Amino acid sequence: MIVTTKKLFEAAYGKYAIGAYNINNLEQTMGLFRGNLDSQAPFIIQLSKGARSYTNKVMLENLIRGADEVFPDAIFAVHLDHGDEETCYDCINSGFYSSVMIDASHEEFDNNIAVTKRVVDAAHAKGIVVEAELGQLGGVEEHVKVDEANAKLTDPKQAKEFVERSGCDSLAVAIGTSHGAFKFSGSQSLHFDVLAEIQKNLPEFPLVMHGSSSVPQEEVERINKAGGEILGAKGVDATQFKEAASLGVTKINIDTDGRLVWTRVHREVFAEHPEVFDLRNPGTIFMAEYAKFIARKNEYLGSAGQLANVRKMIS
Ligand code: G3H
Ligand code: 13P
Ligand code: ZN
Repeated sequence: MIVTTKKLFEAAYGKYAIGAYNINNLEQTMGLFRGNLDSQAPFIIQLSKGARSYTNKVMLENLIRGADEVFPDAIFAVHLDHGDEETCYDCINSGFYSSVMIDASHEEFDNNIAVTKRVVDAAHAKGIVVEAELGQLGGVEEHVKVDEANAKLTDPKQAKEFVERSGCDSLAVAIGTSHGAFKFSGSQSLHFDVLAEIQKNLPEFPLVMHGSSSVPQEEVERINKAGGEILGAKGVDATQFKEAASLGVTKINIDTDGRLVWTRVHREVFAEHPEVFDLRNPGTIFMAEYAKFIARKNEYLGSAGQLANVRKMIS
């Protein structure tokens, strides 16, 4: 069942965070639904602009419709990740998405507010909720590339003004994470002091943490052992998710970790079985491994076991 992120956030606020997972294909979709049902967790499916054009947005959306039918017990939101204004309107008008992210974080403050407000007005007219971003994470996003030196933590005072003036429903904050597999080089770390200050200025308001893959060292080692060359990769400590949730983070974005699971499975299968050329061999293993990964992640997020509560709340 597709719901808005607003409903999921009401249930989670202050207690746990909802996992927001990016998908691009069939195998990820199957693993995602299985893992969330195995762990009885509500979840958010995120589609990036790149994912929507990887095959075709209609193909991807219909995969989700199909999964909704195959897994009728699942409760989830469908969310556009890092949208520009044009893509937000496309998703809002499609009637399929329950939530969009407008990412105008690279604009200066007043422009970010102006762009966000336009999207909020269009989305709210159709009952769709909007995530916006203030501050800049390091790493590569959809249409924005930010090197670490230019990453900017969210200013807690600006955060309150931003939310009031833009009318957004949740806010992605930059508190030290970055996108991709190479986080926290140099002296970077998670800034819980900044997060606490943001929550003080925006009590009860849902916050979002991007760039939250943990980049498990075991995955990286297995990839490299099977022929990969991913050197110096590092991620967020998943044991910190619950502290973030207690400070108002209700959505935690994870994409890179899923890509690492995919890479590990495929590299190992082909390295160990050079005679294999049936795509279903690694595909079957990947779906099972991805489901296991999602279920474990939901334990760290605290969303595991919350499905029955959420179902009660929305019925
Ligand atoms: O933050 C970006 C997400 O990881 C999506 O990545 O644009 O390569 O699909 P993508
Ligand atoms: P990771 O690169 O850490 O998985 O972050 C994903 C993300 O923030 C998607 O919006
Ligand atoms: Zn992101």
